[in-house]
Amino acid sequence: MDTFITLAEIEDIAQVVRQRLRTQPRIALILGSGLGSLAESVSDPTVIPYGELPGWPVSTVIGHQGKLVVGALHNHDVIVMQGRVHYYEGYSMDQVTLPVRVMQRLGVEILIVTNAAGAVNPEFEPGDLMLITDHLNMIGMAGPNPLRGPNLDELGPRFPDMSQAYDRKLAQLARDVAQSENMLLHEGVYVGLAGPSFETPADLRFLRAVGVDAVGMSTVPEVTVARQGGQRVLGISGISNKANLDGNTATSHEEVLEAGKAMVPKFIRIIEGTLDRLEL
Ligand code: HPA
Repeated sequence: MDTFITLAEIEDIAQVVRQRLRTQPRIALILGSGLGSLAESVSDPTVIPYGELPGWPVSTVIGHQGKLVVGALHNHDVIVMQGRVHYYEGYSMDQVTLPVRVMQRLGVEILIVTNAAGAVNPEFEPGDLMLITDHLNMIGMAGPNPLRGPNLDELGPRFPDMSQAYDRKLAQLARDVAQSENMLLHEGVYVGLAGPSFETPADLRFLRAVGVDAVGMSTVPEVTVARQGGQRVLGISGISNKANLDGNTATSHEEVLEAGKAMVPKFIRIIEGTLDRLEL
């Protein structure tokens, strides 16, 4: 019998975080593989290790530190998740998305999600950033959706709309930043796969044929839950590698992490510029 997370379990964690908050952050960031050092830009930080939060899932993957960093980022109070968990680690979809639920209980209204992704679009190069305009939910479309199970009506509707998963106004702010800073910012569709094996060339040709631009193993579950809870979402992928459509190059986690680290300054410029322009 499956077990599902209850409102009481979510509220218990929220209570622990609340006691440590000195402000009321309305924005949360989730940092993807190799992007953890983005949290170093947070000023006056309060750090809460995931281990202090009862039931909070802890990452088993190299490249994901496990702590919440709460503080200020360009005049906005933020909660930064330095490290996330993935479905492939063996966590249930409920566990993967538990942090987003906690953020909702804490009053967070905007979720900024980042990830490292492989380029399926042949025009993307490692080191480029892509604004996520939509996603393809390959894990959940016919299988484990994080909203499966009894609906927590206090958090959102049973059948949430996903027609605008990524907030158009937030996307426009990010576009404006890229333009004014003369930065390249691609746009496209992100597909969330279960992993952890990388894709075969046939997988990738299939994904390209159905309109995918970047491929990864995260983000989609968190965004699904964020939207059910009415949060506005900004999603940015850092292109860590060219996906191997022709079968002639191998993909490795090390390369993903290295590329992630190199992209941090670009992420910081886009995210800080977006926060600068954001009126809440
Ligand atoms: N495939 C899937 N997930 C990824 C990749 C990739 O090529 N790069 C980073 N995350």
